[in-house]
Amino acid sequence: MLAFIGGTGLNELPGFDVEQIAEQQTPYQDAAVQVASGRLPGVAARVHFLPRHGRGHTVPPHRINYRANMFALRELGVTAVLAVNAVGGIHRQMGPGVIAVPEQIIDYTHGRAHTYFDGEEMDIVSADRFTASVTHIDFTHPYSQSLRELLLDSAGQLNLPVWPQGVYGATQGPRLESVAEVRRLQHDGCDMIGMTGMPEAALARELDLAYASVCLSVNWAAGLSDEVITMAGIRAVLDQGMGQIHRLLLTSATRFR
Ligand code: HPA
Repeated sequence: MLAFIGGTGLNELPGFDVEQIAEQQTPYQDAAVQVASGRLPGVAARVHFLPRHGRGHTVPPHRINYRANMFALRELGVTAVLAVNAVGGIHRQMGPGVIAVPEQIIDYTHGRAHTYFDGEEMDIVSADRFTASVTHIDFTHPYSQSLRELLLDSAGQLNLPVWPQGVYGATQGPRLESVAEVRRLQHDGCDMIGMTGMPEAALARELDLAYASVCLSVNWAAGLSDEVITMAGIRAVLDQGMGQIHRLLLTSATRFR
């Protein structure tokens, strides 16, 4: 079963006929996560939708309960997750308005609860699958290649230009970066920067959920253009670009098997 995680600018899915909003209890800070389930036009199977920042877009990136979110999706029977992330562009292909399906991640976040294999809590996940021993998941390819191909094939069907590569640098936020930080990220090989890609991707892998990200560039990263980065500017790009993201997600859902 497929789920979407909406980021900044995607708090709801247009055309999504919500049949139920499940209040999924989780052991992670006892959080109850609300996940909407319902139908998309032309899609036979039910899909789920979880707005990452909460239903009123009030939870900042470093305060999101990523473990509770991913756990809730798995409890609902989700097997595949398409996540939407707003990013700042570093690579010259990644100007505002560009959509990318990244291939790799570098994690610069800190202080976030970033694993289920965390000592006492690790056997909470599922007694049948997880053992209490130290566990290191494989993260060589952080994103599911089959979900990436689904997104890229769907973009091709829509004639939607999408950058089919790139390294996502996950920063702590909520502030934006300094010029020197962007230079460092660029030097490290990051092509885009966002604040929510991690630990979400790694937690998905720990739970065996297929996971891929659709990134919308909403600004040039700090120092890469003369323009001051403002929330109003970001919102304007989001307003323009989200229609394409919606179409991409809908087509991907119709092709998902
Ligand atoms: N930096 C980090 N995260 C972001 C940015 C940025 O420039 N734009 C949107 N999310």
